[in-house]
Amino acid sequence: MQITVVNHPLVQHKLALMREADVSTNKFRLLTEELARLLAYEATRDLELEDVTINGWCGEVQVKKIKGKKLTVVPILRAGLGMLNGVLDLVPSAKISVVGLARDEETLQPVPYFEKFVGDLQDRLALIIDPMLATGGSLVATVDMLKRNGCKDIIAIVMVAAPEGVKLMNEKHPDVKIVSASLDSHLNEQGYIIPGLGDAGDKIFGTI
Ligand code: URA
Repeated sequence: MQITVVNHPLVQHKLALMREADVSTNKFRLLTEELARLLAYEATRDLELEDVTINGWCGEVQVKKIKGKKLTVVPILRAGLGMLNGVLDLVPSAKISVVGLARDEETLQPVPYFEKFVGDLQDRLALIIDPMLATGGSLVATVDMLKRNGCKDIIAIVMVAAPEGVKLMNEKHPDVKIVSASLDSHLNEQGYIIPGLGDAGDKIFGTI
């Protein structure tokens, strides 16, 4: 199983507030950012460090800094944008790559309509952000695109995951770790996660 469910009390409390039927757009948006911040903390737990010597207040001092190139955050349009500032609070110098996917109404497969990746993807950790891992189609397509562009190190941060999406990711991309605040019960016939949050994009953008 490649999913890590973050059971920290703050994560669980914030998710509970987001599940309220009458949550306002303002509150949902703020909670999305706060949750993203906490989930990003967990997702970056294993970043590699290197020993560096710096000039400290009392002379030379050995410190540890994050090794390698700046990571890239990859919001999947549109709902992923709601998590972006929360993640950037923790990694302000991260580079941003953006993916937009539309559903082909005949094949029902996600088709990219926008992709803009930062350079040197082969040397960067990519943190994909999308609030809801439902069928997994968008996440699989985004990982496909990142790998096609050379990326080898990918973590997905979601707020709520469905077993169906986790299963598909396990089949297609078992090397990609998923960090989530919850693994919910199932998808309904309309593709919504149950109990889930409803349409996260609509709630973040106020288009309900
Ligand atoms: N996307 C959402 O926003 N919510 C779901 O429950 C599933 C997909």
